[in-house]
Amino acid sequence: MFREKHRTRKRQKGMSPDRTADGGMDMAEQVKTIGVLTSGGDAPGMNAAIRAVVRKALSQGINVKGIYQGYRGLLNEEIVDLTARSVSDSISKGGTILYTARCLEFKRPEVQDRAAEICRKHGIDGLVVIGGDGSFRGAQQLAARGINTIGVPGTIDLDIACSDYTIGFDTAVNTAMDAIDKVRDTSTSHERCSIIEVMGRNAGYIALWCGIANGAEDILLPEQYDYDEQILINNIIQNRKRGKKHHIVINAEGIGHSTSMARRIEAATGLETRATILGHMQRGGSPTCRDRVYGTVMGALAADLLIEGKSNRVVAFREGNYVDLDIDEALAMQKNLPEYMVRVAKAMAI
Ligand code: ADP
Ligand code: F6P
Repeated sequence: MFREKHRTRKRQKGMSPDRTADGGMDMAEQVKTIGVLTSGGDAPGMNAAIRAVVRKALSQGINVKGIYQGYRGLLNEEIVDLTARSVSDSISKGGTILYTARCLEFKRPEVQDRAAEICRKHGIDGLVVIGGDGSFRGAQQLAARGINTIGVPGTIDLDIACSDYTIGFDTAVNTAMDAIDKVRDTSTSHERCSIIEVMGRNAGYIALWCGIANGAEDILLPEQYDYDEQILINNIIQNRKRGKKHHIVINAEGIGHSTSMARRIEAATGLETRATILGHMQRGGSPTCRDRVYGTVMGALAADLLIEGKSNRVVAFREGNYVDLDIDEALAMQKNLPEYMVRVAKAMAI
């Protein structure tokens, strides 16, 4: 079975890894040094995950090395020893204390070979990669080259198919929600239409959640948008006739073009229309309780999996449980926007 529900009983301090009983691994093979890196877009709660990897591993006698700037830092050997104090005061901080990067050359097989060699050179026999599904593809390649590797889902976009939750989403939607409330105040005062663009890359989760939480009149979701702007224009005209004082449109980044859209809508409806692109402020700030807790539990589970001798797995949260899945299978999964939430959002906009 590819999916394994997290069992705490066999993972307590001082106990042998459960694969020992299966004959799959003995203590001599146990990882001695775990590396940890963050990759792709930063997300609030990544620090909680780093801290958990460090402290869980140290508490079980495993050394931990921090790798700065994701795969780029690995290739540049930006590698430092981490102690329990290295991660002090990090749980409440936004961003990632290990820094992050997008490293396109890491997609090349010869570069992946070099990265695996660098891990071996530094004695890193287990690696935790905190990031999105792009980062998991890199992790998969390192696992294929003999470095025990575990992925932890960290992205504000909530777009990792295998997991119901990704670290950073809750903070990001709360930050966006607060910002949209402020735009709404001025939009109502001027009786305007506002197009507010939120992040999410090709996914509409942030847009959908903010659309519901901010009471938007329209939500443009990349998964469903048919590029028929006339429908939106008719809606705006209809709502004004119904007495609505503003018209809030949440536009997902995957659709984009908010500024030109605002110009066209103003010309077609005669209503003053403004575009606001929230941008990178959605990625910053102190993580919410949820992101700190998910970050901590997922980071600790990743360390435990390495200690058990596992590799090529990702940590996920599914149907109320923390689980781990094979990376290949996790990356092959697909997830759809929850249809019922989309219908409810529409019903609220009358
Ligand atoms: P995310 O991890 O949030 O999805 P990206 O898609 O930008 O963000 O991926 C982060 C990094 O992961 C990339 O810059 C690259 O270093 C690595 N990566 C992405 N795709 C691959 C791939 N197909 N093979 C190897 N590494 C990859
Ligand atoms: O994946 C997180 C994310 O913020 C996406 O929502 C967005 O498309 C992208 O990263 C922006 O990336 P960058 O910070 O490189 O502009």
